[in-house]
Formats: sequence, structure tokens, C-alpha cells
Amino acid sequence: MTISDRCAAGEAEDVSGQVLEDALREAGYEVVRRAIVPDERALIAGWLREACDTCDLILTTGGTGFAPRDVTPEATREVLEREAPGIAELLRLEGLKKTPFAALSRGMAGIRGRTLIINLPGSPRAVREGLEVLLPLLPHAIELILEQPTSHSPQGGTT
Ligand code: MTE
Repeated sequence: MTISDRCAAGEAEDVSGQVLEDALREAGYEVVRRAIVPDERALIAGWLREACDTCDLILTTGGTGFAPRDVTPEATREVLEREAPGIAELLRLEGLKKTPFAALSRGMAGIRGRTLIINLPGSPRAVREGLEVLLPLLPHAIELILEQPTSHSPQGGTT
């Protein structure tokens, strides 16, 4: 899910959303939904609630910063039933190794029902860097939510 006024208005190309989709497919995920939503809290929360019915994982990109219209974290918190602060902290921690601006992302992560929701920042670079951090964790995280735990090693090994 791309959250961007400019992309939603057709004034900018959704590069980050495409980076996300391509990287997830390459990692073996089936991308069942994609959306571009403006920086409007009610629209973001509404789309998240609805997508939770059909998705095990929702990755958002954009709207996590300090600009007045950056409300993705607030919309996400509204729909989360259980927060997963460790994922958000890890994204910032690893991001700080690349840029001090990683501290300016207020992105959240957590669980609603059987869906894991994670906010990534808006730039294609931040999406790539975030996925590098997330991809090793996602299989086990999703297995736990779906109550199908099989592995404790990163990237779904057998130990
Ligand atoms: N995290 C990583 N790993 N790499 C980045 O380039 N950009 C930062 C930060 N997090 C960045 C990053 C910047 S410049 C901003 S302003 C914040 O994410 C918020 O971005 P957003 O408002 O587009 O969500």
C-alpha cells in the first residue's frame, strides 16, 4: 500500500510500491492487493481494515515522517490490535546505519487479527533497505500469527 498525496493524484509515479511488489514476488510472496491512497487517516485506516480480510501481510510505504500530512502511523495504530514495536525499532536501528534521517520515520508495526502490518518510509531507497531487514524475519513472524510455527532460524531454515 502506497500512501502518497502525489501518487494518488497521478502527479508522481509509484516507484516505491513497484519496488515493494517486485521484491516481494522475487522473495516468493504472492502479491494479492496493491493500492495507492492519499495521506488521509480515515482512508488509510479503512483500506487497512478491509485488506486484513484477505492478506497475511500488509506493507505500507510513505507518510511516516514529520510533515503535517504524514499520518500513516496514527492510521495504523488505530487498526492494530497488538503492537510489534521490535519490528519498528529494528527498521529504525538498521536504517540509522545508512542515514541519520532514519530517526525521522515514525513507522509502526503490529498485528490485526491474522495480519501483520508494517509501515515503511516512502523513498524507494528506504523500502529496499527496509526489506533487507524484514525478509529474513517475515516467514517465522507470519507462521506464528497463523499458528503454523516450523522454524526459529532466519529465512525459514530447519533448526
Ligand atoms: N530509512 C532508511 N532505511 N533509508 C532512508 O533513506 N529515509 C528517511 C526515513 N527513513 C530513510 C529511512 C527519511 S529522509 C524520512 S523523512 C523518513 O524516513 C520518513 O519518510 P516518509 O515520510 O516518506 O515515510
